[in-house]
Amino acid sequence: MDLKRKVALVTGAASGIGKAFATELVYQGVQVAVCDIDVDEGEKLMETLTSDYGKDRVIFCQCDVTDYSQFEDAFQKTIATFGHIDIVINNAGIMNDRFWELEVDINVNGVIRGTLLAQRFMGTDRGGHGGIVVNIGSNVSINPYPSVPIYSATKAAIVNFTRAFGHQYHVDLTGVKVMALCPSATDSKLLQDVSKQLLWARYEDAWHRDAASSVPQRADHVAKALVHVLTTGKSGSVWLVEKDQPPHEITFPKI
Ligand SMILES: NC(=O)c1ccc[n+]([C@@H]2O[C@H](COP(=O)([O-])OP(=O)(O)OC[C@H]3O[C@@H](n4cnc5c(N)ncnc54)[C@H](O)[C@@H]3O)[C@@H](O)[C@H]2O)c1
Repeated sequence: MDLKRKVALVTGAASGIGKAFATELVYQGVQVAVCDIDVDEGEKLMETLTSDYGKDRVIFCQCDVTDYSQFEDAFQKTIATFGHIDIVINNAGIMNDRFWELEVDINVNGVIRGTLLAQRFMGTDRGGHGGIVVNIGSNVSINPYPSVPIYSATKAAIVNFTRAFGHQYHVDLTGVKVMALCPSATDSKLLQDVSKQLLWARYEDAWHRDAASSVPQRADHVAKALVHVLTTGKSGSVWLVEKDQPPHEITFPKI
C-alpha cells in the first residue's frame, strides 16, 4: 500500500509505541485519528502534530477499546472528518497480570472489536474500499514469558486471530487485509513498573530471567517497522521487530 493521503485510526496512540506510530504515519503523509483513553496526552499529541504538519492531518478521539460504542464512535468521527478509513492499527494494550480480566478485555477483545469494526467500516461487502488492519502482538506471542503467563496468552491469541482473519478467504470476502507486528522489549511506560504488574510479587525473579537479555529498542524504530509491514506485508503475515533490527516475517510450520 502506498501511504500518501491514506487515513489511519490508531488505538492507544497517546503514548509509547502508539504515539510513535501516529507520528510516523503523519510524517508519511497519512491522516491520523489518535484514539486513546488518555485525553490529556491524546490532545497534546494532536496539537503537536498539527503544529508540525499543518491542520486537517490529525484528530483525537477519546476511545476506550473495551467499550464497543466508544470504539464505534471513533470510527464514525474519523470517517466524518476524513471521508473514509484505509488503515486500522490495533495497538492499545496493557501488561498487567494482576488485573487480568481487564488485560484480556483490552489486549484480546479490544483487538477483536477493532478488527470487526474495520471489516464493518472498510469492508468491500459493506460499501467500503477495503484496507489493512495491523494488530500489535509481542515477542511473547511466539515465546511466552513464564513471568507474565496471562499477558503472554493474550499476545499469543492475537497471532492466531490475525492468521485466521488474514487468510485469503476473508480478504476475498471483505477486501480487508490483516497482519500482526510483534515488537520485543521497547522503551515505553509499559515496562516502567513491572513489579506491580506481575500476578504475584514472587514472580519477579522469573521476570528478571525473562527480560535479562533484553535491551529495550526505541519506539520510533518499531514505527519504521510498521511502515515496512504496511507497504510490503501480505495478509495473514506476522512480523517480529526486535533489538533495533529490521523487522522479519515469522514462518509457521504446516502440520
Ligand atoms: N513496550 C514494550 O516492551 C512492548 C513489547 C511488545 C509489545 N508491546 C505492545 O505494544 C502496545 C503498546 O504498548 P506501549 O509499550 O506503547 O505501552 P504504553 O503503556 O506506553 O501505551 C499504551 C497506550 O494505550 C492506552 N490505553 C490503555 N488502555 C486503553 C484502552 N482501554 N483503550 C484505549 N487506549 C488504552 C494508554 O493510555 C497508552 O496511551 C501494546 O499492545 C503492548 O502490549 C509493547
